[in-house]
Amino acid sequence: MALDPLFLATAIEGALDAGRIHRSYFRTDLAIAKKGPIDLVTAADLEAERRFRALVAERFPHHRVLGEETPAAENEPAGAPRWIIDPVDGTTNFAHGLALFCVSIALELEGRIEIGVVYDPIAEELFTAERGGGARLNGQPIRVSRRDAIGDGMLCTGFPYSVRDRPSSQIDVFAAFLRRARAVRRLGSAALDLCYVAAGRFDGFWEVQLHPWDFAAGILIVAEAGGQVSDYAGAPVRIASSEIVASNGLLHPAMLEVLASVR
Ligand code: IPD
Ligand code: CA
Ligand code: CA
Repeated sequence: MALDPLFLATAIEGALDAGRIHRSYFRTDLAIAKKGPIDLVTAADLEAERRFRALVAERFPHHRVLGEETPAAENEPAGAPRWIIDPVDGTTNFAHGLALFCVSIALELEGRIEIGVVYDPIAEELFTAERGGGARLNGQPIRVSRRDAIGDGMLCTGFPYSVRDRPSSQIDVFAAFLRRARAVRRLGSAALDLCYVAAGRFDGFWEVQLHPWDFAAGILIVAEAGGQVSDYAGAPVRIASSEIVASNGLLHPAMLEVLASVR
């Protein structure tokens, strides 16, 4: 059954609105609070999430919202559609004035992500996908890369906020990919990393300890761009998953092999 067009329109409207909020605070003297030793939150995170919640409440009063900055509400009717928002993905970059961040919005219906929208308000790049409808960047279809040798690949990863607890586990995996790939990058926004795989800029991405708001939109955008997404064992990603491997599909077996070699 075709999706209500208002769903994608709402995700895009919410993302553009969040982008305006990002731009109004970016590179200003903004207050930065700490959720953990290296995990930050700013007024832009809180305002963007609050505004999106208000939009959903007004337009779809029976829908749920899972957002990074608000603990999940209890006693909601099970099975109601659920929006998943990361109001600023790449908050550390944002707080330091580095223009690599975005808002990520997904819609989950009956346990499946059906819509994904990621917006980078500085580069003005809007990535969108609707299940079965392909992935787009500013309205133009995008595809993953065609590189089929990991030695020619440019890969990307991220480090969880718990990295200080056991940095060696992250470094060992990083080193294993450095030995095999042409290049490895760490940009600081998992949602953008995934969109860059979808657009063929990266050939693959891996990260542990991600949350649904980091990847819900991005994994649909990768899949709709012809890529492959799994957990580290190669199993399908569920919303409760926390480890993600995304690739152009061609490099997926090699990436899983590298991950298995350092476990
Ligand atoms: C973080 C970013 C980062 C990733 C972290 C995420 P946040 O999200 O996506 O790239 O490495 O694991 O938590 O905190 O900026 O929304
Ligand atoms: Ca995030
Ligand atoms: Ca965030």
